[in-house]
Amino acid sequence: MTTIAVTAALPGRAPAMLAEAGAIRAAPGAGRLSREELLALVEGVDVAVTMLSDRVDDELLDAAGPALRGVCNVAVGFDNVDLAACAGRGVLVTNTPGVLDDATADLAFALILAARRRLGEGERLIRSGRPWEWSMGFMVGHDLRGGRLGIVGLGGIGARVAARGRAFGMEIAYHGRRESPHAADLDATRLDLEDLLATSDVVSLHTPLTPETRHLIGTRELALMKPTATLVNTSRGAVVDEAALVAALRDGEIGTAGLDVFEHEPDIHPGLLALENAVLVPHIGSATVETRAAMAELAAANAVAIARGETPPTPVPLP
Ligand code: GLV
Ligand code: GLV
Repeated sequence: MTTIAVTAALPGRAPAMLAEAGAIRAAPGAGRLSREELLALVEGVDVAVTMLSDRVDDELLDAAGPALRGVCNVAVGFDNVDLAACAGRGVLVTNTPGVLDDATADLAFALILAARRRLGEGERLIRSGRPWEWSMGFMVGHDLRGGRLGIVGLGGIGARVAARGRAFGMEIAYHGRRESPHAADLDATRLDLEDLLATSDVVSLHTPLTPETRHLIGTRELALMKPTATLVNTSRGAVVDEAALVAALRDGEIGTAGLDVFEHEPDIHPGLLALENAVLVPHIGSATVETRAAMAELAAANAVAIARGETPPTPVPLP
């Protein structure tokens, strides 16, 4: 009998889908598993359904053993999975692209609006009980209309952020290693990273975390940005050098930031916490009832296919 480990409780139809394909070995509690619990859970299973907070490396693959045929990550990102280690053992890897594009784009746009219009700062002020009063120059932010939105990585999520930007009257530029198929519809201009950073009012990051994109945005890149610009990150924390970002926000090299992801999650750089011009939310890009169910169901469909020896719907290309 096929055994499928599931490292967190899944919403929607996913548990029923998995139960049809094999015996489920479920995480005991509702919270995140300790490393020891995770390694014990996967022992001897055929397929593991994993979360982005589970590190899938040689140690985990050893703990699972030779029966393991697939790792189905419930996330579009898969930087938590050592692809070479999986490939070396003939273990398939899948992710959940597409189904979270709108939810993540909504959150990115919420951060853009929050940063440009100082929502976090305003909320904190009101809740502090400190006196305030309307005046012409009080808490002024920046218009979206007429500004340039620079998208780094015009894939599924980036394109949906760009479409929202267009609806708000923004002009779209993007940076990517190749021409994006979405560019024509969005009237988006492709720029090298330096030009995009220097000319954008809002820069939104939508690139996967890879060795090439780690610290893609550091001191030099932040210095290129406009002093009024907003940096938004809903991709992975380590795409930005967080210490450099703290310095840039503090010294006025850039204006504001909106962050859903952090370099050492769940720890946050203490410097960020002290800054009024940073909007900080706890990795909730795909966190809607509808989207989490869709992600879980896509991961389950991948796991079921692998359990049955079929081709999974959304495999990650292995090295
Ligand atoms: C969320 O961060 C994901 O990669 O799905
Ligand atoms: C602002 O509150 C306005 O009424 O213009």
